Amino acid sequence: MCGIVGYIGPRQASDVLLSGLARLEYRGYDSAGVAIIDAGELTTTRRVGKLVNLQNALGTSPVAGNVGIGHTRWATHGKPSEENAHPHRDCTERIAIVHNGIIENYVELREELRATGHMIRSETDTEMVAHLIESYYEGDLKVAVAKSLKRLEGAYALGVVHLDHPDVIVAARKDSPLIIGAGDGENIVASDIPAVLEFTREVVVLHDGEIAVVTADSVDVFDLALRPVVPEMLHVEWDLDAAEKGGFEDFMLKEIFEQPKALRETLRGRMNDGEIQLSELAMTAEEIAGIARVFVIACGTSLHAGFVAKSLIEQWARIPVEVLCSSEFRYNDPIVDDETLVVAITQSGETADTLAGVREARLRGAKVIAITNVVGSRVTRESDGVIYTHAGPEIGVAATKTFTAQIAALNVLGLKLAQAKGTLGSERVQSIFDELSTLPDVVEAILGSLEELQECAELFADATSSLFLGRGVGVPVAMEGALKLKEISYIHAEAYPAGEMKHGPIALITDQVPVVVVATQGHTYEKVVSNIQEVRARGAQVIAVATSGDDDIRNHAEFVLHIPQTSEALSAIPATVPLQLLSYYVAKRRGCNVDQPRNLAKSVTVE
Ligand code: G6P
Repeated sequence: MCGIVGYIGPRQASDVLLSGLARLEYRGYDSAGVAIIDAGELTTTRRVGKLVNLQNALGTSPVAGNVGIGHTRWATHGKPSEENAHPHRDCTERIAIVHNGIIENYVELREELRATGHMIRSETDTEMVAHLIESYYEGDLKVAVAKSLKRLEGAYALGVVHLDHPDVIVAARKDSPLIIGAGDGENIVASDIPAVLEFTREVVVLHDGEIAVVTADSVDVFDLALRPVVPEMLHVEWDLDAAEKGGFEDFMLKEIFEQPKALRETLRGRMNDGEIQLSELAMTAEEIAGIARVFVIACGTSLHAGFVAKSLIEQWARIPVEVLCSSEFRYNDPIVDDETLVVAITQSGETADTLAGVREARLRGAKVIAITNVVGSRVTRESDGVIYTHAGPEIGVAATKTFTAQIAALNVLGLKLAQAKGTLGSERVQSIFDELSTLPDVVEAILGSLEELQECAELFADATSSLFLGRGVGVPVAMEGALKLKEISYIHAEAYPAGEMKHGPIALITDQVPVVVVATQGHTYEKVVSNIQEVRARGAQVIAVATSGDDDIRNHAEFVLHIPQTSEALSAIPATVPLQLLSYYVAKRRGCNVDQPRNLAKSVTVE
């Protein structure tokens, strides 16, 4: 997943491109580059590694000009190198393009282009697009781009400039995100909204199969047959502050601390007079009553929210729930029919595996509800209904506030299903919702109370491996805690149901393997304590997440992270917060870049 940006207007393009790329760096940071047009010249500057290398290069050799495109890369085809960095150019070096996505038929196109005399310089799929545009160009850039797009298989968001047309950027998208920030006398093309917020909050949402011709004063949108299309406009409510660090050292820490707000916003307006308000479900009570099974599909952190949902929906609505990572769902011939509700959870709304799963589910007749944080994202167009988490932009690559917001939204969904199915009465639904509504305050209290965390992080100073254990809803919490640690501190972390640990992973236990245990009050609490004893008997040092007032747990663990008492069903959100912070402090102590961990990208738009 790469980030692309384009600028046209009165400012120095390099400044706007660099500021936009800085806000898109979460999408990849293997290399970065810009191409800028000025006084009859198209100058390309590219550097391997993080954006700072490009910033330094442009600091030393500034490039003037008011129109340009930029790119930050997460390598798919071809190693991270200057040659493979975007923008890519055609043979004449008059055309430059930036691309996010994968051109699946690039090998075939490369043969064809080579056979017709084109000089291919990089190992990328993207470069083929520049040469295709060159070969179709007869004076009209938009026409050449449209003809080229018809030759492409795969996914793309593209920005194209041509020296013959110094007053235009052509942009296009299919299966990769792209928006255009519509400013006053200036326009900014970008993969994501934070890149344009410094300049405007008015956004044109480009849809699949659309081409935009962008000048400083206009954005004209066309379909692939070049028929004009009325552009979809969006007013963005967040301001730039919301997309910046706001005094925190890292985006991740800021986002962890934004959880109370994210939860409040996500729960706002969801209960009225004992009735859960979820019109986005777009299903009648009768249709809900007809749901025979639920499938949850998601990837990464969102998948863990799915596991929490399973326990809630099964417990409250008594509907069997299967949870599968999207990449497995799609190819596993899932048993899905018109009595199946598929819940697709994706923070970005752009994850290729989840989108493919959504399509598969709908082909099989299922109704698909998406849970996403990004308004206008691809999943919102492909699903029957959308429940938004209102967590605000999440910039840190490791998901935090969107995870807990997803769980909040899934709680609401679970209650709605239970209410429609009649498995929970209105009073019970109201009382669960009332407790749910206290969680923002509960999380706030946790965030203000975990002094022991930094000390606790010391346990991981020399660790290369760790175990995360839990039971019931504590299992997905442990999975998420382990994922966070892996992602940002690069310490191996394995999550296991605590009761299953003795059937294998216990062999890993030594005094060098810290064990984190979700040991909050619940019907399996005593069993969890026994599991703690099992690992301690083998030398492990234990960090326990436990309920306030449980002082006995101190006899069983080196460190205790206390969280306020909640009902067991609602404990996933508060129990997750200390684990997010633990992984944060461990990673910081080890000098890791928590916002941009190696090899990862915020949204993965390839399969
Ligand atoms: C990437 C990110 C993960 C994220 C996953 C799913 O792998 O690195 O942090 O959980 O994608 O993303 P989604 O946007 O679909 O929730």
